[in-house]
Parts: sequence; structure tokens; C-alpha cells
Amino acid sequence: MTTTHESVATPDGIVAPRFRPPAGASSSATLSLDGEWRFRLFPHPETGVDRAERGDDWDRLAVPGHWQLAEAPHAWPYGVPEYNNVLYPFPVDPPHVPDDNPTGEYRTTFRLPADWPDGGRTLLRFEGVDSWFQVALDGELLATSHGSRLPTEVDLTDKLRDGGEHLLAVRVTKWSAMSYVEDQDQWWLSGIFRSVTLEHRPDDALDDVRVHADYDHTTGVGTLRVDATTVVAAPGAVAARVAVPELGIEGVAGEELQVAVEPWSAEQPRLYDVVVSTDTETVTLAVGFRTVSIEDGVFLVNGRPIKLRGVNRHEFDPLRGRAVTPERMLEDVLLMKRHHINSVRTSHYPPHPHFLDLCDRYGLYVIDENDLETHGFLGESWAGNPTDDPAWTEVLVDRVTRTVRRDAHHASIIMWSLGNEAGGGRNVPAMVDAVRALDPSRPIHYEGDYSSDHVDVYSRMYADSAEVELIGQGIEPPLERADVDARRRAMPFVLCEYAHAMGNGPGGLADYDAAFDRHARLLGGFIWEWIDHGLTRADADGNLFSAYGGDFGERFHDGTFIADGLLLPDRTPSPGLLETAAVFAPIRIDAQPDGTLLVRNRYAFRDTSHAEIGWTLHRGAEQLATGTLDLVLEAGTQTVVRPPSDLVLPEPGEAPVWWTVRAVQHKAEALEEAWLEPGFELGAGQLLLVEPASLTAPVGRVSTEADGGFRAGPARFDGRGDLRELAGRTVHDFRVDAWRAPTDNDRRPAKWQGSADEEKWRDAGLHLLAERKNGVGVSADGALEIDARIAGPATRAGFATRYRWQPVTDAPDAVDLLVDLRPEGRWPENVARLGVALALDEPAAAETGVRWTGLGPDESYADSRQAALGGSWQHTVADWQTRYTHPQENGARRGVTSAVLSFTDGTGLRIDAGDVTVGARSQLGIELSLRPWSDEALDRAAHPHELVPDGKLWLHLDAAQHGVGSAACGPGVLANAQLHAAPVRMRLRFTTL
Ligand code: GAL
Repeated sequence: MTTTHESVATPDGIVAPRFRPPAGASSSATLSLDGEWRFRLFPHPETGVDRAERGDDWDRLAVPGHWQLAEAPHAWPYGVPEYNNVLYPFPVDPPHVPDDNPTGEYRTTFRLPADWPDGGRTLLRFEGVDSWFQVALDGELLATSHGSRLPTEVDLTDKLRDGGEHLLAVRVTKWSAMSYVEDQDQWWLSGIFRSVTLEHRPDDALDDVRVHADYDHTTGVGTLRVDATTVVAAPGAVAARVAVPELGIEGVAGEELQVAVEPWSAEQPRLYDVVVSTDTETVTLAVGFRTVSIEDGVFLVNGRPIKLRGVNRHEFDPLRGRAVTPERMLEDVLLMKRHHINSVRTSHYPPHPHFLDLCDRYGLYVIDENDLETHGFLGESWAGNPTDDPAWTEVLVDRVTRTVRRDAHHASIIMWSLGNEAGGGRNVPAMVDAVRALDPSRPIHYEGDYSSDHVDVYSRMYADSAEVELIGQGIEPPLERADVDARRRAMPFVLCEYAHAMGNGPGGLADYDAAFDRHARLLGGFIWEWIDHGLTRADADGNLFSAYGGDFGERFHDGTFIADGLLLPDRTPSPGLLETAAVFAPIRIDAQPDGTLLVRNRYAFRDTSHAEIGWTLHRGAEQLATGTLDLVLEAGTQTVVRPPSDLVLPEPGEAPVWWTVRAVQHKAEALEEAWLEPGFELGAGQLLLVEPASLTAPVGRVSTEADGGFRAGPARFDGRGDLRELAGRTVHDFRVDAWRAPTDNDRRPAKWQGSADEEKWRDAGLHLLAERKNGVGVSADGALEIDARIAGPATRAGFATRYRWQPVTDAPDAVDLLVDLRPEGRWPENVARLGVALALDEPAAAETGVRWTGLGPDESYADSRQAALGGSWQHTVADWQTRYTHPQENGARRGVTSAVLSFTDGTGLRIDAGDVTVGARSQLGIELSLRPWSDEALDRAAHPHELVPDGKLWLHLDAAQHGVGSAACGPGVLANAQLHAAPVRMRLRFTTL
């Protein structure tokens, strides 16, 4: 064998690819070789170690696993993980990689069990090894392989002795020529990271079982054809029996069997056991009958248009990297189902095969993606890109062939994807041909085929919702070549990535979703991405935190960009996932401008009889009346509902009165029972029926204190008009604020152009606002009036401000504040927030309780607010924070009409919001933010555990905040959620409790 880790060559010495049935599905013998292997790491591929070396005194390393994570989270004895997004961390010099190339030598010994069957073949199977490896048995080199997320099988039969002990030696390099085609945006992590097994393949084995299980929606008839092939022993078709006991049908391989069936869909993942057998092997597969087609530019499953409400999923575990356990895979699938995600793009490689078994079983549509990305060539305008290099054709075709062969039997897979960010070129049609030859039944996806010359769907990433709208209408700008344009215009459109979920966000998800619903051509899309890849790491004091790029001392990395998921690294749902669930809800309930609720059944196949649609009339948390709506909607239909005409509405009181309608699943289908939680919500919406009563007009008078200061109820001011005390607590830094600790989205320019919002805000000095008082005095009606101007350094732009403090009565407990804010000068395109901020001395700020009436229970922003409902909610200040992997603005609660702070010493402070106007718009309530640390500290912190309470409770009482958008990768905040410097008027009341 002459190939090295720098060869561009297909694997050598391996068995032709075959399908992968679920664990336990075959009657053939298998033996797991997972466990502690012997391991030693060398600096170069030329390790100098004899393949016959047993390594008895070497270290022990768990297989499957990555060597970089062997002792995570405490120690990194075999080198650290490194994170790169696009750029190669080595010179672009294909197929060469640097000499410094950590190389692992693995050793294990095994014996065939006494009952290992005679005859047939025995294969050694690797499910995934990153990146390039050689396999030797008893000192003899047998195979060389690669394709990190693809299986490799080596035929050991002729080398095995009954009962004898065998030494298996595997040499794995970190870098290889294949690193050029495995440039996915993730940690570089090496080693044997998926399982290793010995597999017995009898003569006449069912090595490759191809299941064709179509469903004719016009007749309800399923057509089953199973093709069975022997791949290993004597390649060719094998005579096999096929039976579906539940359907009472039997036949033989190659024969078409027809019978009435219940179809498979992600909504109702009906599976049937199909038993395929020869005299030597029986394989039982869970088969779903379904047909995927594209008609008139619309993507159909079983004859009906579907929408993909999906996510991009990388394999990730915060301690184990891509060596994910079955438990983690199940957790992912169930979390997706519980948040109304109906589809997954396996970005950007075939996942562990068990994940696909789960997608079949629980119901998720899958785009199965080939293990291919060459994004690092983009910087060189794709010069030398393997995707366009004939030297790479066989390697790339081999990869996609192994993908299709491994996975084609899964009902969940509705499309193949050739890879990600790998540019265009001659190897695209070569891969397409290979896939079509193996499986003509599924459309092919590849975003990198920019004009969709070769693929079956038009795919893009990060197009904004306005452009998506044009595409939906079929009026997008034409391509240069008319024939290609006509072909693409007749294709369904999918956003293979959109709504980049980095940090606080994504904003604007609902705008996309509305466009998907409006246009049949729009198939939907996949949010980028499922989970933050924050690796757990202990700091010097033993605190565990989620590490991102640079946290391992890498010198060339992409920092926080690895933390861009809907789940925090420990799989805590972020507010973005809750927003996703509300936007993706299968039964959408939305308020209409005419004061009604539109209820839409967005299932493609199901009516809503499994849901109870109930309503409550409530004032805050106080329930005033309840009822149910006698409503069953057929798939794809909608209706308008309104409160019962005889509903008695209360007089306006302190809190608004809402009519909230919720669709809750009360009846489960068999498969759902495993994961359905009681009260599982399929959709919710509400109407505001009674606005709160206006605050009474304040009538008290400010008094002058002996030291020249002023007192207004519970508020005390010095002679300059600075607020010094509120509700018995020292006040710091009371002033207007227009800045926030930038989010990851604020930090990047929208659509990668112009300047980031953060930069605009810094240029305008929003982070360094300084106040100057023009005048302080007591008005004729007894209010303390303070005229001021606040602005940042080096600019004329500022806000003219008037604060008017007036005790509510002459009792000392309550004071009203009227804030008037008027922008002066030239302002940046937008500002982060408009409101007032202050800090109160409070040693136990984090433990302070807060009960509020407003939107909740979780944070919401102007363009991420579908999940927030009006009501009354409570939290501690600690729980109010969202611990984004990279600290940033978080936690805003909107529409807050009142909030009660309960301090640990038993005292309290109530805040009520009266009339609030921003520009010409009047709105209900304020946006409230509470923190046990300052915005500056939040901005400075690199990781959440660095944030420590500073003895103060920091409050923001805002009229409004800028939306969040998804500028970290894509569009910024859309016009409907931008905040511009505008006149603000806001009335607040503070009451000591
Ligand atoms: C895309 C890429 C993804 C990811 C994303 C940014 O271009 O396909 O893998 O890098 O950008 O998070």
C-alpha cells in the first residue's frame, strides 16, 4: 500500500459500502470492540511504532471518543480542541498538511467468542474515525481509510484464528488531505469517535437491503419492494423472503407487494416491521410508507405540501464532542418534537446512524448531508477547490455513495444533500449522477450549486425575508441563462440555513415563517443551528464553564461563533428555542387587527381532534372565567374565533384583562405517548380585552430638606436634583440610557456589510452618556422638575430630558415620575434602548424576588415575541438572567404594567407603568430589565461564570428596545423592530412596600 495521509485516493482495502440496519435488527452475530483501548499520541504520522507493538504499558483511552477530550473537563493531555469556522488552520497547500500532525496509535486485543458462527465473513466495522487512519491486524497493514463521519469495513476473515488472540492496531492522524474536504464549522476533534464492531456476515447475507415503500395517497395503498444484495461474500442479488406480519403480506425480494397501509409522515410516523430473511440471516426493519415528490414547484409528501420547520443539527456533547451517546441523540429528538421542530438537516455530515432510527420512529423529516465542506477555498475565490478538481472526483463520489448506501432505508430521509459550502464545479454533477443511480426516489439538495443546475430544489442560506417573499411569489431576479432560470423557477425553495441563533436571537423568525405559509413554493427552512458547541472546561479555580474558540489557547480561531444554537451547551433551551416553538406551533393562534383570533391548523395530515382548545379570561394571574371551543379543524384549514358574546368583562383595574386561547394535546397516538408531556401546548394566542385603569393623578408636594435636597414620597434628591435614595435604598447612576451590552448580533454588520449596530452606538457614545442639568426647581403644583441634557462624548447628538417627580399623595410611600425625552442633533440609524436606568444598593440582588404583570414568562424582544404571553409571572433576579454562552444583553420583559420587587430583608418596591409613548405610538407598559451586575460588567464578561453580583440591583425601565435580528450571520433587525432616536414620554410610579 502506497497511500499516505496526504494521498487523494479512495479508501484502500475496505469492503464495498452497504446499508446499516438499526442495532439488534439483524440476526447475525456482532461483537462490540468499544471500551478502553491502549493509546499513545505522537507528533507526526511517522510514529516509528511497530504495528505489532502491543502497547501494554501505554495510556488507556475510551473508544469511542476524541483524544483531545480524554480527560475533559479538567485536563488536556493529548492536545486541545481547536475551533475554526471557515478558514483552514494550516496553509492552503492541498493535498499537503503540516508536518506537525498529532497522530494517535491505538491498540486493542480481542478473541472471537467461542460461539462465533462458522463460515461466512467477519468484518471489522468503524462507524467514524477522524480524520485518516490505517488498520493493521497482528502487525499486518490491511486497510487505509477516511471519511470521518462515514463507515469503514475491513474484511478480517482470512486473518482470524479460532480462539486466538488478535492485536488490532489503528493509526489515526489529526490532519490529512481529507481535512480539506472536512472543513465544517466546528471543533477539530480527532480519533475513533464512533463505535467499532466485529460483524459476522454469513453466506447469502443481507448486506444491503434497499426498501422501496411508497404510498399512493389517492388509493391509500402502499407498495413495498425490497431489494436484497450480498456485498461481501459473493456479491449479487440474494433470494430473500419478505414479510410484513402486521399487514399479513409475504413475498420475495424484488417483488412488488401492495396493500392498504397507514402512511408515514413526521406528523404521524407510522412504521411497520418488515422482516427480510434468507436461510442465514433475518433483518427486521421499521419501515414507513411514504412518497416524496415535487409537483408544479411544490414539495409534497404523500401528495400534500409540507413545510419544513427545521434545524441544522451538528452532533455535540459538551464533554464528549461528536462522540454522542444514544441518550443524547434521543434527548435531541425529543427536545425537537417538544418544540415543534419537524425536520433536521444533518449539518454537515451523516449523523450517527442511530439518530436516523430515532427520526424514523419519532417523526422528523431529514436532509441527510454528505461529509463534505471546502469552505476554506472561498478566500482564494475557490481556486484549487476539490469540488472542481478531477483528482478528487472519485473521493467525493465515494463519500456520497457511502452516505446513500448506509442510510437509504430510512423513511425519515426526504432529500440527499451533497455537502455544505464546498463551491461548485465538475464534481457536483458527478456526485449527483452517483446519487441518482443509487436512489432516484429522493430529490437532491446542494446550496453550493448556486444556480441549481444539477439539483432538484432551489436552496439558499440567510436570504432575508423580503427576498424570500419575492422567491415565494416567483418573481426573484432572473439568472443569466434563461433555460437554467426557467428550471430553477420551477423548483421548490428551501432555506438550508436561516435565522442564525447566535446568542440573544434569532430575531425575525416569525417574518420568515409567515412568508413560508403564504407561498406554496416555499418549503421552509432550517434554523442555524441546534446547539451551542461550548465544551465544558474547568478554570484554574475549578469552576466549570462552556469554552469556545480561543479558550484552549488556540492562536487561530473563530471565538464565540461556535456558540450559535437554540440550546445552551448543556441542552437548556434558550429563549430562542421557546420562540421557535411558538412560531413553529402546528396550531397557530394569532390576534388579528379586528379583535379576533385566527386559529390555523398547520398540520399537513392531521385534524385537530387530538387537541383541546380552551380559553381563559384572566386579569394577570387571576382567572375570571374559562371555557373550551368546540373546534376541530381539518388539516390545512383555519377559522376565526372571538370571545363568547355573553362574556362579562370586568371594569378596568390594575392589570390588563386577557382572553387567552390555548390548544393542548389531550390525546396521543401510540408513538407520541413515549414523549408527550401532560399539558403539551400545540399553540396559544391572546387578545387584550380590558386595558388597565390609568394611574391616578399625583397630588402630593415635594418637600425641601434641611441639607438643600428634596424629598418626594420615597424618593430623596440632593440639591442638584440627583436621585439619591428610593424606598430606603441608596440609588446610583439614575439617568437616561440608550445603550445595551451588545448582543452577538449587535456586534456584526447586517448581511456582512456596513457597520455593526454596536459600532454605530459606540460612535454615538451611547455607552458613555454624560448628563448636564439645566435647571432644578419645584413647580407650582408641587413637583420636582429637572431639566437636563444627556449625550455621549465627541458628538452633538443628545437627548433633552425633563424629569418630573411628584409624590402621589402627601403620604411618604409613593412617587410618580414623568420622563420626557427628546432627541437633538443627528443620531445613528438606531439606538439600543430608550428609557431610564438606575442601581439600588442591595447585597442580595440575585435573590430578590420579582413578580410582574406583562409579557412572560421568558424574555422577549421586538422581533422575538411570539412566545411571550400577557399574564402575571414571578422569578428571582438570578433566574431572570439568560446565561448565554457568551454574556450579552438578555432578560428584557416587555409590556410590563407593574412589577413588585421583594427584597430578602422583607421590604419591597412596586413599580407601575402609566402611559408610555414612543414617537407617535402609545403602548402598554414598559420593558423591564433587572440584573445583579451592570451592563458594563455584562459587556466585559467573556463567560457567564465571570459575572458576580456587585451588591447592587441594576434596573432598566425602558419605553422600548431595539430588536435583536440575526446580523451575526445574515439580516439585521428589520424595519418593523428597529428603534430610532424618537421622542419618548413615560409615566412611572414607585411605591415602597
Ligand atoms: C454557514 C455555514 C454553517 C455555519 C454558519 C455560521 O455559512 O454553512 O456551517 O458556519 O454559516 O454559523
